[in-house]
Amino acid sequence: MNTLPFSSDIGVIGLGVMGKNLALNIVDNGYSVAAFDLDTDKVNSAINQEQAERKANSAPRMLACNNLTEMLSSLTKPRVIVLSVPAGGPVDGVCKSLIAAGIESDDIVVDTGNSLWTDTVEREARYKGQFVFFSSAVSGGEVGARFGPSLMPSGDKAAWQYVAPVWNAIAAKVDPATGLPIERFEPGNPVTEGEPCTTYIGPAGSGHYVKMVHNGIEYADMQLICEAYQLLHDGLGMSAYDIGDIFNGWNNGSLNSYLMGISAEVLQQDDPLTDKPLVEMILDKAGQKGTGLWTAVSSLQIGCPAPTIAEAVYARAVSTQKDLRVQLNSKLKGPAAVSLSDAEKAEFIANLEDALYCAKVCCYAQGFQLMAMAAKEQNWTLDFAEIAKIWRAGCIIRATFLQEITKAYQDNADLANLLLADTFSTNLSAKQMNWRKTVAASVMQGTPAPCISSAIAYYDSYRCETLPANLLQGQRDFFGAHTFERTDKPAGEKYHLDWSAKERSLAKV
Ligand code: 6PG
Repeated sequence: MNTLPFSSDIGVIGLGVMGKNLALNIVDNGYSVAAFDLDTDKVNSAINQEQAERKANSAPRMLACNNLTEMLSSLTKPRVIVLSVPAGGPVDGVCKSLIAAGIESDDIVVDTGNSLWTDTVEREARYKGQFVFFSSAVSGGEVGARFGPSLMPSGDKAAWQYVAPVWNAIAAKVDPATGLPIERFEPGNPVTEGEPCTTYIGPAGSGHYVKMVHNGIEYADMQLICEAYQLLHDGLGMSAYDIGDIFNGWNNGSLNSYLMGISAEVLQQDDPLTDKPLVEMILDKAGQKGTGLWTAVSSLQIGCPAPTIAEAVYARAVSTQKDLRVQLNSKLKGPAAVSLSDAEKAEFIANLEDALYCAKVCCYAQGFQLMAMAAKEQNWTLDFAEIAKIWRAGCIIRATFLQEITKAYQDNADLANLLLADTFSTNLSAKQMNWRKTVAASVMQGTPAPCISSAIAYYDSYRCETLPANLLQGQRDFFGAHTFERTDKPAGEKYHLDWSAKERSLAKV
């Protein structure tokens, strides 16, 4: 017999930062939540917050569950249970506990963590018949989860239809007229108008793959902004506060993005313990949880060039090797400092803005091409205009620029690479000289800019009708008889030169 005070619409397991905020978002949108966490303090904190934010005379809409059996008996059937637990073992741990507690075959478990997409594919198969394992990657951090994240659901289609009303309600919203986010960060007053930033991505694993690539782009976008900071700080000797001003200015133009805005805010934050900018007191060792690395690995496995994303992962790796950097700092020479006139500084800053824009386009081009190639390999039909659309608000890489990407895919759903879209090819062609000047200046300054410069190599590689892979094939044939194709013969026909013979002869093999 259910002795609980009310039945709930949705279960939420895991009330850490993301789980608690998702639960409060669900409640704000009129649903009731049954909440469980192994740590009862976290449950109590969520319940207290729901109570504090609840309008006077309204009934409670969040129920604390002492265990999973209690949660299952509180939920209306078929049950929907949202998991917000760390990716990996904990997801399976909770799934097994739910089976032990009596979850039923048509109940739906939604994994919202940053799970590895192949784990999601395996889990859907593993739990089939015991419950429906569904997934919905979430982007937007704490505030997004609370007031509107971008949600990337994938898996069983019927499960999606069942959860879609909740997902559409809790997702971030975009004004369809402008393509801009509608933001209102008020408990109890959710944004109900506009286009929700969620769409069914495809079969199991596809949503987590798309989120993984989102994070790969996020890593690269963050690193690009950091490189701009270092170029301005080390190269031009600008203060963190003044760089924040420049970023704020850029945030009003084509570089407008959530990440640009928060970077300016970080740069202009004073340190509460000293009289310095906080950023100068933060140790320069970057952490990572792995999603950017997964993106880079996947790009290598698939054979899709994503050098700017990979460089962003390497940049975090080199940052962690602080001791080695300190050692090498006194051993390796760099160029002598050059002082620039005010006019030269202004030109440097203008060039850097263009360089950032161009490199950013390349990051997105790499991410979208990677998703397209993965979709082909996995037999997924991904709608890139829809994916760009749901990244316009709520998520960490939200940027006005995503409106142009949406349009590019609406105009041509089969675009092989974003650089083929007229809007981007025209802009990059116009700005490329300023981009080159930035890369050249960074090299001459001795300030590393791995993402800005890898992106221009990407741009130039794709511009080259002929790459030196002809010589490479010759090398391979020379030492390993690996054969080569000829420019004057049909594709697929293989040739080998007998390099070791005195009279070198060519044979078709
Ligand atoms: C998001 C973020 C979020 C988180 C990542 C990145 O979209 O909301 O990507 O998922 O910040 O885990 O974290 P790391 O930088 O630690 O890898």
